[in-house]
Amino acid sequence: MIDAAEIDRLRAEFLRDLSRLDSEPELRLVRDRYLGRKGGAIASLMKALAAAPAGERPALGQLANQLKHEIEEQLTARRVALEATRPPAGAVDISLPGRPVGLGRRHPLTVLRDAIESIFARMGYQVLEGPEIEDDYHNFEALNMPADHPARDMQDTLYLGEPVPGQPARDRAGRPGPVRPATLLRTHTSPMQIRYMESHEPPVRIIVPGRVYRRDNLDLTHTPMFNQVEGLVVGEQITMADLKGTLTTFLRELFDERTRVLFRPSFFPYTEPSAEVCIGCVFCGGPGCPVCKRTGWLEILGSGMVHPAVFEAVGYDPERYSGFAFGVGIERVAMLKYGVDDIRLFYENDLRFLEQFPY
Ligand code: DAH
Repeated sequence: MIDAAEIDRLRAEFLRDLSRLDSEPELRLVRDRYLGRKGGAIASLMKALAAAPAGERPALGQLANQLKHEIEEQLTARRVALEATRPPAGAVDISLPGRPVGLGRRHPLTVLRDAIESIFARMGYQVLEGPEIEDDYHNFEALNMPADHPARDMQDTLYLGEPVPGQPARDRAGRPGPVRPATLLRTHTSPMQIRYMESHEPPVRIIVPGRVYRRDNLDLTHTPMFNQVEGLVVGEQITMADLKGTLTTFLRELFDERTRVLFRPSFFPYTEPSAEVCIGCVFCGGPGCPVCKRTGWLEILGSGMVHPAVFEAVGYDPERYSGFAFGVGIERVAMLKYGVDDIRLFYENDLRFLEQFPY
């Protein structure tokens, strides 16, 4: 039931709301709350008055109207006051906080690639890139992997195919014509060893960073594209001691000057002898843990003395020249250096991940 006390209560409520507002949007909200045509407090009050006893209606109606006018006046006064504090159009409000500037940063894989390049550049190596679309000869054949070599398996290699000579590239329906698997996405950076030696005489001291591709499904440790850095040194007196010294220096610069380095016999068709290079486990420091499979060592790169068959393929005299080569995976280095257990994180471009790395 509406009475004078009820109208006073509404006034008190309004005055409280009025005293709390201090912006134009808030003012609009308060105006709607009290003066809104539908559901506003005054509109509801007027409606409720219809149910008041006929004798009291005129007096109550007057009180209600008075309150309505008070509210209108006070809101107008407050609006004028708020407008007066508004900066003139076009003015800069120097009290506002600045907008943060989003600076770009290098991707952690780029940072590592640059770091690797710089270590070798300081040792006098030239940095080169090579084609990602390769042919069978440079990716396999010249690297002493003949036609029946298991590494050439369609399982591992992404072949691009080439139209068969004399056959249309597309049939009348626009479907691709027959292709032969002659070009491929390089499965490693090693074909650049061949390309470089084909067009340069010794001495050779190069590194070749770049993308490589394999027919792998995504999982914690595999992506169909990843990055390697190839290295090749050729000269007249290059020995396994040079390989060991160079790679030990490299790994100690890349990880830590106290990094322990282990050379283990291995096999690659293009090197003889071949060595797998490990560093002391960066997670457990030696005693063995799940990451190093309890061995205390983590494999980090493949290497070896260049196979005489490779020298023959490029027309170098294997009696006169010797050399060493190596290949290192940049993602692998990144995972070990930063303790990342899922390679996919490097390709998802989630800033929460990427912002954790030095750049
Ligand atoms: N090509 C090898 C790979 O993709 C890495 C490698 C091993 C490169 C030994 C070399 C080497 O140059 O000598 O896994």
